[in-house]
Amino acid sequence: MGFKTDFVWGAASAAYQIEGAAFEDGKGSNIWDSFSHIPGTVYGGHNGDIACDHYHRLEEDLDTMAALEIKSYRFSVSWARVIPGGIGAVNEKGIAFYDRLINGLVKRGIKPCMTLYHWDLPYALHIRGGWLNPDSPEWFAEYARLIRERFGDRVHDFITFNEPQVFVGCGYYNGEHAPGYKLPKWELLRIGHNVLKAHGLAVKELRRGEPCRIGFTGASCPAVPATEKNEDIEAARKNYFESDYDAFAFSDAYWFDPVITGKYPEWVYNYESHFKPEITDDDMELISQPIDFIGLNIYQGKYISAQGLVGETPGTPRTSIGWPITPQALYWGPRFMFERYGKPIIITENGMSCHDAVSLDGKVHDPNRTDYLHRYLSELKRAAESGTEIDGYYVWSLTDNFEWAKGYSERFGLVYVDYAAQRRVIKDSAEFIKNVISTNGKDL
Ligand code: GCO
Repeated sequence: MGFKTDFVWGAASAAYQIEGAAFEDGKGSNIWDSFSHIPGTVYGGHNGDIACDHYHRLEEDLDTMAALEIKSYRFSVSWARVIPGGIGAVNEKGIAFYDRLINGLVKRGIKPCMTLYHWDLPYALHIRGGWLNPDSPEWFAEYARLIRERFGDRVHDFITFNEPQVFVGCGYYNGEHAPGYKLPKWELLRIGHNVLKAHGLAVKELRRGEPCRIGFTGASCPAVPATEKNEDIEAARKNYFESDYDAFAFSDAYWFDPVITGKYPEWVYNYESHFKPEITDDDMELISQPIDFIGLNIYQGKYISAQGLVGETPGTPRTSIGWPITPQALYWGPRFMFERYGKPIIITENGMSCHDAVSLDGKVHDPNRTDYLHRYLSELKRAAESGTEIDGYYVWSLTDNFEWAKGYSERFGLVYVDYAAQRRVIKDSAEFIKNVISTNGKDL
């Protein structure tokens, strides 16, 4: 028992958070390029103009991946780098960059896993209404076609969208992320419907190419039963999939129910507004194109008992970003999801922000991260051993990077980045992960 023999172990990243070269080689700008330049939006006035300078340090970063012996690398494509206006003319220099990346991975025996949308909507599309524009699903389909035509011969693992909960919830509901809007519920429902249709069209487009595996990744905060008594388990399951509350954009069922079952939660159909989106049977069929796996980004969970949310006790352990450390989220999240939807699960992100620093000996010692990863992975293994189908796990992140509204103040990497010198230092936790990978998690 343990993890499958072909279990995929990897590390993840996203274009805007690492690439830099924001205004180079013909790249168009996107909503994060503009949002991060608005005073007060990002910690310390940081932005992704240079980030980890990955665009120029590609070979070094590829060598680091090889040194860590990761089997797969999850990255995202910057839509505006390959199609500067979002639709229309293709930027060949942008394509060439991703060709170098993909070829470099393949050469090193690392499987590319490509995310199409990790939040960086081309600015040219944003000013045409972005995801509110009824044409937005078609824009995304055009982009997906380009992805298939140019990269589909070497990339066979795709994720259409990363965390709609966060880019809609934080981008259009509470205004903390780009484009910084606070929209009413009916507009969020329109955005949601367009994003889901865009997902469906992209799946159809990618299926026209070589056989591939396609997933949809959610940001998930699983409800963890306070005890393993049946009543607590059922209360947690119910809580996890509730989505009839104000902040529905953050919920899992609102996004995954339509994608997997072809039906929104009931309240969406009953919601009364002149402005709500029209939802047709054809739309729902499109949205529920079969996919191959559910991607889950899980960092934390919440404890639920039959009596409701269990309040925190004094001294609850937390990561530096403030998220509670709840390893069982990696047991119950995948299990509940698998039981509800019946699709294999891939943990597309999990990791810890710490206050890392280079020590006198020149190394980065991060025992807290090692402990965190060890605890979470042990729970994931318990899930795999008790019948939940789990196909892979990606650490967030390969390197420290631009943590959205938190700028560079939070470090999630297995590899430390000294931003001033753009120097990389492999952290101790990376050695732990390397060992987990080489033993397929035997010692967890
Ligand atoms: C997300 C994104 C990542 C984050 C990471 C840590 O989950 O918000 O996919 O881009 O950097 O999750 O917050």
